[in-house]
Amino acid sequence: MTDPAPHGNDPAAMPKAAAAPSPHPAPHPLAARPSRALRGRVAVPGDKSISHRAVILGLLAIGETRIENLLEGDDVLRTIAAARAFGADIRQTGPGGWRVVGAGIGGLAEPEGVLDFGNAGTGSRLMMGVAGSHPVTATFDGDASLRRRPMRRILDPLVRMGATVVSEAEGGHVPLTLRGPVETIPVTYETPAPSAQIKSAVLLAGLNSPGVTTVVEREATRDHTERMLAYLGAEVTVSPEGSGRRVALRGQPELRGREIVVPADPSSAAFPLVAALLVPGSEVVIEGVMTNPLRTGLLTTLAEMGAAIASENRRDLGGEEVADLRVTASRLEGVDVPAARAPSMIDEYPILAVAAAFARGPTRMRGLAELRVKESDRLAAVAAGLAANGVRVEIEGDDLVVHGEGAAVAGGGTVPTHLDHRIAMAFLVMGLASRDGVAVDDGAMIATSFPSFLPLMRRLGAEFTGAPA
Ligand code: S3P
Repeated sequence: MTDPAPHGNDPAAMPKAAAAPSPHPAPHPLAARPSRALRGRVAVPGDKSISHRAVILGLLAIGETRIENLLEGDDVLRTIAAARAFGADIRQTGPGGWRVVGAGIGGLAEPEGVLDFGNAGTGSRLMMGVAGSHPVTATFDGDASLRRRPMRRILDPLVRMGATVVSEAEGGHVPLTLRGPVETIPVTYETPAPSAQIKSAVLLAGLNSPGVTTVVEREATRDHTERMLAYLGAEVTVSPEGSGRRVALRGQPELRGREIVVPADPSSAAFPLVAALLVPGSEVVIEGVMTNPLRTGLLTTLAEMGAAIASENRRDLGGEEVADLRVTASRLEGVDVPAARAPSMIDEYPILAVAAAFARGPTRMRGLAELRVKESDRLAAVAAGLAANGVRVEIEGDDLVVHGEGAAVAGGGTVPTHLDHRIAMAFLVMGLASRDGVAVDDGAMIATSFPSFLPLMRRLGAEFTGAPA
């Protein structure tokens, strides 16, 4: 979906940011070799969405927020740096353990210098909601990938709430400078795309507004912001609205810092999970994976394809349901994935497309327009990666059709990853189950969301070349 036209900004004003995008690590070519059966129990890192929110709401809370199992990937470290720039006192207390002492709603400091979010779409967009509702001026920038991603979808509602876009890169991109109003105007806003980032930016802005801010979404998206706001003491009501939801937040609550335990990220678990399904003879248990129903579209789809995934030891962890997932190598069948399921598995299409390449018969994934505006154009990147490894694939409108032949794919190709962590991990998984292995041009971005990916996969028996042992 394209973002609407600009509004209320001053195109003559130059962004305060440097001309070059923020540097990213040197490219790190990697290759996955065909593997023996994968076996073992592993725990993937904390959920990226919840980690960003824990830091941001810790900044806005009064008192101390103690976070356990925070994802220490580059994206979240950027959000921590920004929260510090807005006045939070943030310390690491141990591996995955962090303590945030907040500045409180209305108490933000004006950040000095540019807030460099690197590759992090979620961190930058949610923080725009925070900055755009406080009387501070803040400049946002990022790497070459973030500079291509649409930001008007965030700026539009913020301008309605009283923010000023002082400057933006042409087309509504970072680098951009945002100034919040003295008093934020509460709004009722219908999101133009099924996006938890848009919803969350508006709700976070609504926190500093004297009234009720309402977000209406036509399709329900991940609800971590709503859950965490309620957990920290805000008044949030969620009601069904057609096939979507209406979320209403009473502004200027007193958020109280509390303990937040971050459950394991289902979007990271997806990689060892699909690897175990595809590599013959594998059996892997992935521990404590979050099974929030707004994140389980991949599990639903794989079950329809015939995957053997058992949910064991279901339990509650800090307000989210988690389970250990026991995954056994399975023969998969092609399926038709409805568009309505997309929000519950939006980050999982690259790895689902890899699974589909090994399944018997075509898999059609419908309604994937949003994939074009992720860390890369994932529709194009997935299709190119599959084709480079001997898989027949088509993009038809917003649908992706993968023609699986019910056998190991040939492999042998090198996949361009376009600064996209999930493209890199998906195709490395493909290599493990392929006939000739698969190379990726750059695995460095894996550190944004799953820094332990290579050692964890190696512990299960995977073999990679071009990677430190
Ligand atoms: C996220 C929402 C999704 C997802 C992203 C994380 C979030 O993005 O792709 O990785 O934490 O809110 P959109 O809101 O753009 O769909």
